[in-house]
Amino acid sequence: MRRFLLVLPFLAACSTSVDGPTWHQDIAPLVAEHCGACHVPGKIAPFDLVTYEDAQPIATWLADTTEARTMPPWGAQDTEECVPELGWKDDARLSDAQIALFRAWADAGAPEGDASTAAPLPTPRDTGLERVDQTLLPEQGWTVTGETDQFRCFVLDPGLTETGKLVGLQVNPDNDNVVHHVLVFSSDAEDAEAIDDLAREDGTGTFPCGAGNPLPVGGELIAAWAPGALPMRTPEGTGMIVEAGARLVAQIHYHPTGTEEAPDRTSFDLMWSQTPVARAFLTLIGNEGSAPELQPGPNDDGGVEFRIPAGAQGHTETILFDIDDTGGTDLTIFAAGTHMHWVGTDMQIVLKHQDGTEECLVQTPAWDFNWQRWYDYEGSLFEMPVVQTGDSLWMRCTYDNSLENPAVREALAEQGLDAPVDVVLGDDTLSEMCLAVLGLTVRL
Ligand code: HEC
Repeated sequence: MRRFLLVLPFLAACSTSVDGPTWHQDIAPLVAEHCGACHVPGKIAPFDLVTYEDAQPIATWLADTTEARTMPPWGAQDTEECVPELGWKDDARLSDAQIALFRAWADAGAPEGDASTAAPLPTPRDTGLERVDQTLLPEQGWTVTGETDQFRCFVLDPGLTETGKLVGLQVNPDNDNVVHHVLVFSSDAEDAEAIDDLAREDGTGTFPCGAGNPLPVGGELIAAWAPGALPMRTPEGTGMIVEAGARLVAQIHYHPTGTEEAPDRTSFDLMWSQTPVARAFLTLIGNEGSAPELQPGPNDDGGVEFRIPAGAQGHTETILFDIDDTGGTDLTIFAAGTHMHWVGTDMQIVLKHQDGTEECLVQTPAWDFNWQRWYDYEGSLFEMPVVQTGDSLWMRCTYDNSLENPAVREALAEQGLDAPVDVVLGDDTLSEMCLAVLGLTVRL
């Protein structure tokens, strides 16, 4: 009798629980929290991850993809060469333990577990701005057709009669089946008319634009959005300057689904500062020019040159940018990102101080053009990297210009080519860049 009493509870426990993680206990909450911004009906990802039936057949694929850290999309990774001192705001990366959970679940045969004792699903976080002062909507929507990705620019008039200080911007994609990512620029006031003309040209209120800066002359990048991103917020006490009379231009990267899609009329919530703030701005530094100095590198033929020969793998271009003058004040770096085109595979940015010390700002070791963005440091402005006159910025871009690079295959196919070509610096699809994107503010 005694023996039975001991054995029975053991058997009972065995019959209802399964070894290792289950869908209802472990994986469903993880997926809802970390994949739910995109892998749900009507969002950008090509398949849903909502039910057990969605996930069970691809359990191994989920484990592989999360282990490779390609999902969730997040380019800024720690490497042997680069571990930025501060963490990233809204870091989307899974922890090692969470990645191990996907693998353990797949290895256990992707058990469902018991729906009646399912772990609660996390409630979606509040992703809006704390205050919306103005919402801008383009005059007309845009209907995405065809098979290939396209870039379309929308002109927005914030109606400023005096200089505005923008502290927050939220992109509200309308048809989020097709909106892949969005960059928002503010123009110089004097270019407003030229920009309005561009949008009037084909009567759509929009104009076609490439992946580069769509503004005719000056202007600044002010915000970037990709699925799952939180709104742009400048650091506390800082704001971006938008001139009176300026236009905002939203460049939307559309990813057609191959079926007829409803028009997209993405809107923009803005939050302005009522109090004086220090200026925050984004700047792009790199490529080749008189100040950013291209360093000698592999495959240079004669002189130092930015050329990635057809077929070259592991080719690097290195650029050094001396900061001769920060305008009489130290600058704080609150965000960092990388920019290349299709041939790029890895980029690293290091801030070299005058006294010989170095800080790695960011590295994107698995560069993916489709998921480009910049990353905001977490913490107070006082802890963030400081740039002083005499410092320099070192950038190293690595390229794979061979057919082994899937992005190269895709870019060539789009141009009707079947073999790699020499790639030089430029704006076109089959040209390259090596640019640092930095968010800067005057040191407070
Ligand atoms: C920000 C949006 C987003 C988030 C968050 C996201 N995905 Fe994805 N996922 C996509 C898109 C879009 C694709 C299609 C391929 C691409 O564009 O990179 C994709 C593709 C995939 C693929 C196919 C991989 C391949 O090589 O094509 C897998 C597997 C996947 N996601 C799993 C996940 C898992 C698991 C999570 C959460 C841990 C997740 N994704 C989070 C948007 C997202």
